[in-house]
Amino acid sequence: MLIMIILNYLSKLGMIVVLTNLGELIDGLGRIHSKGLYHGGLGSESNYVFIGECLKVINIKGDLDEFNTDEDRENKKKEDITDLLGMLDNWFESILAGGKRSWLECQHFFDFVNRAKTLNLDYDVFAKKVACHPFLLEADGRMSLFVEYDRRRNAPTTRQQVAVALTSSSDFANFKSWNSTSTVNNMDSYMRGVYNHRNYSGDVEDLLRYLRNLHHHYHEHGLAAGSMEIVDRGVTTYIRGFLEVLYKNLEI
Ligand SMILES: *[C@@H]1O[C@H](CO)[C@@H](O)[C@H](O)[C@H]1NC(C)=O
Ligand SMILES: *[C@@H]1O[C@H](CO)[C@@H](O)[C@H](O)[C@H]1NC(C)=O
Repeated sequence: MLIMIILNYLSKLGMIVVLTNLGELIDGLGRIHSKGLYHGGLGSESNYVFIGECLKVINIKGDLDEFNTDEDRENKKKEDITDLLGMLDNWFESILAGGKRSWLECQHFFDFVNRAKTLNLDYDVFAKKVACHPFLLEADGRMSLFVEYDRRRNAPTTRQQVAVALTSSSDFANFKSWNSTSTVNNMDSYMRGVYNHRNYSGDVEDLLRYLRNLHHHYHEHGLAAGSMEIVDRGVTTYIRGFLEVLYKNLEI
């Protein structure tokens, strides 16, 4: 499976396969845990084997019942996930020409994981936040996140949190003039069409509103784009990294 991931990435085909498969790996670990087992050695490459195109985990070590407290059990499960992600982090770094930095979305994902690890989150929360990261989502899931964050931007209970994040985090500095003439002129025609349909300022709030509307137009009016993958690719090209930065600032 991981070989597929890299082949797909390198050939720039089927990015979707790439992302879902990584998510499946994390889900698979959750299934081991739900059976009352833990692995205990996922930091070591000797516990993985490739069979065909699939990466299999071998040498599952033990039973969570060996531990006396819930806290120990939770820590053990969490350690499995961090070990798996640590292994993948090293692996991506070594296999991608130029390292992870050459694949911005991948870099964002591992930065997120490393930040989440420092926050002492419960196992369930940690696993969910990691598995729901935009890097692991398909096009529709990624674009739907803009809808969710724009909803939070307007909802009374979350408005303040979103406003503070968007205005105070330096992560958004790069997006403050997202609507420059050169960007707008370079956009694919369906993106420009949605842009010209309303008045948008160069503020980050309006960028979020625009992306929400892009998703809305696709679903409500059948956009000229053809598929959500094409919409997602356009967004990833012209407004690269914005979704990942939103996720980082609004999810933890
Ligand atoms: C954009 O704003 C201008 C000035 O406020 C207004 O005249 C125009 O009708 C607006 N356009 C749209 C598409 O809302
Ligand atoms: C970008 O937004 C600013 C307002 O913040 C507006 O004056 C400008 O015309 C917009 N640029 C384009 C290319 O639409």
